[in-house]
Amino acid sequence: MVGTAPAPGETRPKRTAVRPSGVERRFAADELIVSKTDLRGVITYANDVFLRVSGYDLDEVVGQPHNLIRHPDMPKAVFKLLWDTLAAGQEIFAYIDNLAADGANYWVLAHVTPSHGPDGAVVGYHSNRRSPAPRAVAAVKPLYAQLVAEERRHPNGRAAVEASSRLLAAREASRAASYEEFVWSVIEDGAER
Ligand SMILES: Cc1cc2nc3c(=O)[nH]c(=O)nc-3n(C[C@H](O)[C@H](O)[C@H](O)COP(=O)(O)O)c2cc1C
Repeated sequence: MVGTAPAPGETRPKRTAVRPSGVERRFAADELIVSKTDLRGVITYANDVFLRVSGYDLDEVVGQPHNLIRHPDMPKAVFKLLWDTLAAGQEIFAYIDNLAADGANYWVLAHVTPSHGPDGAVVGYHSNRRSPAPRAVAAVKPLYAQLVAEERRHPNGRAAVEASSRLLAAREASRAASYEEFVWSVIEDGAER
């Protein structure tokens, strides 16, 4: 039934694949989009700002993999870097373009960190996101477009992510600047280095 809450214990059917509408959504500079996941990236918590901006209800996101809001124009290499960094026990800052339930997209500057249990072991992950400066997004777009173009030249996902990760590493080497340094440099001057 449409529009009714699921009965206790019943899960809502997933929406069918969302197609990007080309409409960009912004959120306020003083707002934080927050979510938490388990070790596999399955969402365990989302705050009200997450729900409002993504257009999902809480029961549609909790229990779903975080790629629920993956935008098809996001490079796989960025998510590989995110997961490799978390697996190494470190935090990461990244620009991510997300896809809302109605097809709108919204850019975030995400800070993603491991969460530790009482014994120090990593029990899940946590992400806080702010609205990025428009000039930073303008600087990130050409890099991500280049990475996605490289990925689309390859027939399968594994070859694609390897190729775009190589491209990202080559770019870092030629500029002697890591992805994280790039993240901060575009906030300062909006120019790609
Ligand atoms: C705490 C946390 C937050 C994440 N936030 C996002 C997000 O906002 N958008 C997104 O597309 N992926 C996010 N991811 C990464 C997803 O788990 C996933 O790797 C990504 O969407 C790529 O999906 P795919 O591997 O199916 O292509 C997050 C992962 C973690 C651990």
